[in-house]
Amino acid sequence: AETHYHEFVIQATPVKRLCRTHSTITVNGQFPGPTLEVRDGDSLVIKAINQARYNITLHWHGVRQLRNPWADGPVYVTQCPIQPGATYTYRFTIQNQEGTLWWHAHSQWLRATVYGALIIYPRLGKPYPFPMPKREFPVLLGEWWDRNPMDVLKLALFTGAAPNVSDAYTINGQPGDLYRCSSKETTVFPVGAGETILLRIINAALEQELFFSVANHMLTVVAADAAYTKPFTTNVIMISPGQTTNVLLTANQAPGRYYMAARAYQTAQNAAFDNTTTTAILQYKSAPCGGKKGQPASTPILPSLPAFNDTATATAFTAQFRSPWKVKVPLQVDENLFFTVGLGLINCSRPSPRCQGPNGTRFTTSINNVSFVLPRANSLMQAYYQNMPGVFTTDFPPSPPIKFDYTGNVSRGLWQPVKATKLYKLKYGSQVQIVMQDTSIVTTEDHPMHLHGYQFAVVGMGFGNFDARRDTPKFNLVDPPMRNTIGTPPGGWVAIRFVADNPGVWLMHCHLDSHLIWGLAMSFLVENGVGELQTVQPPPLDLPRC
Ligand code: C2O
Repeated sequence: AETHYHEFVIQATPVKRLCRTHSTITVNGQFPGPTLEVRDGDSLVIKAINQARYNITLHWHGVRQLRNPWADGPVYVTQCPIQPGATYTYRFTIQNQEGTLWWHAHSQWLRATVYGALIIYPRLGKPYPFPMPKREFPVLLGEWWDRNPMDVLKLALFTGAAPNVSDAYTINGQPGDLYRCSSKETTVFPVGAGETILLRIINAALEQELFFSVANHMLTVVAADAAYTKPFTTNVIMISPGQTTNVLLTANQAPGRYYMAARAYQTAQNAAFDNTTTTAILQYKSAPCGGKKGQPASTPILPSLPAFNDTATATAFTAQFRSPWKVKVPLQVDENLFFTVGLGLINCSRPSPRCQGPNGTRFTTSINNVSFVLPRANSLMQAYYQNMPGVFTTDFPPSPPIKFDYTGNVSRGLWQPVKATKLYKLKYGSQVQIVMQDTSIVTTEDHPMHLHGYQFAVVGMGFGNFDARRDTPKFNLVDPPMRNTIGTPPGGWVAIRFVADNPGVWLMHCHLDSHLIWGLAMSFLVENGVGELQTVQPPPLDLPRC
């Protein structure tokens, strides 16, 4: 196994998109940031040097960080921010994971531009469980704002309204040629006729689930979130923020230029969103890129993408995921948790510039009616490790305090979340089930839920209210997909299981960033087990102080 050393200089860089140049926070001047390529078993040493004017942290999304929460990165959860002018070195090892993951900033809205791919190849000599592709490409889907995303966030936090929607979606940082001033820089993926290539698709968008498709070409899904899947073929994928999907594509069409495109999958009714399409070009090498000499390049054809509200297609796609083999799923459950996830509104007693949400309210989000509040003077992990009192409590409710029809016509007067920093304690090795239930308090919505430090089995999913007696017997405990991010269907529920074998404080949250900042998050405190191998490692000496 190798150790890979990198310096990540976080800095403001002029970046031109949509006809205008913006001062953009980047890593090493690159947008998207550098692609990390490692093998399973390798170690990474990444020195983050903050030369920007914002506090920042970096997160290695999906890396399990066994016994090593200090390298996980969510701000005020496992570390204090790296302040302007400061540095922090993330040190971690990939342990029995392979596939596509990614990294991103995990403080405020900096991940809008601070992100990149993390590619984990199998150990030396170990093949993929599918024929070796001829080429591989990371395909990072993102969002671009004409304004500084940090200002968009600040305004939303101040007014209590939804943030401004983005001005473009992007593929590898480029909006593509359907947007103004973008055609020259459109991302091009070269392919030889007859070749099979692997696309490592990552949804790095802040706020948007996306449909993705390539004109005239079928996609064979072979992995997601750094776990292999039983291969299945589709012409369109749906991918939630945080998720990765590896697909094989065979260039078996007439040599030419074909668009690959991504567009919103939007489930919240009446919510504003960007309805535009980002494109890149799949370019057969044998097809002349500029057409014949002196002739304009042929215009590629667009794939047909589902309508923005096509929940049926999105659901049918997600339902096809299986592990390619039997996986270890807890059959018995020690901790049976039921979490409501959803949007809420805080009533404002009088009109105020801070209450510009629907009908003069402010948006909020919660899990079990607790809207997660981050500490400011410490990280939860440091507070726990050093036995600091008063930073958090461990009374996170295992199910919501009010029982009713979550997806029915309910009065939101019943649903006023409390703001608190509550953790849920898990004994080392306990077998955990969480059913996450979307609510319709404001509107139903697909919430991509991400758990740090773990990969979980997605054992069940459905619409309406979860009914344990009816739904539990139907769980897939044989070959469920293993993931780190899964959408709670709009007006539905999803059930996951995992063994709490990674001690530390681990954040779980909605990967739609406005929902995260409004409080759709909670943290688990997984206690140490017995002996060194079940105990959190000591913190690194350069761990930032608040
Ligand atoms: Cu990809 Cu908590 O994040």
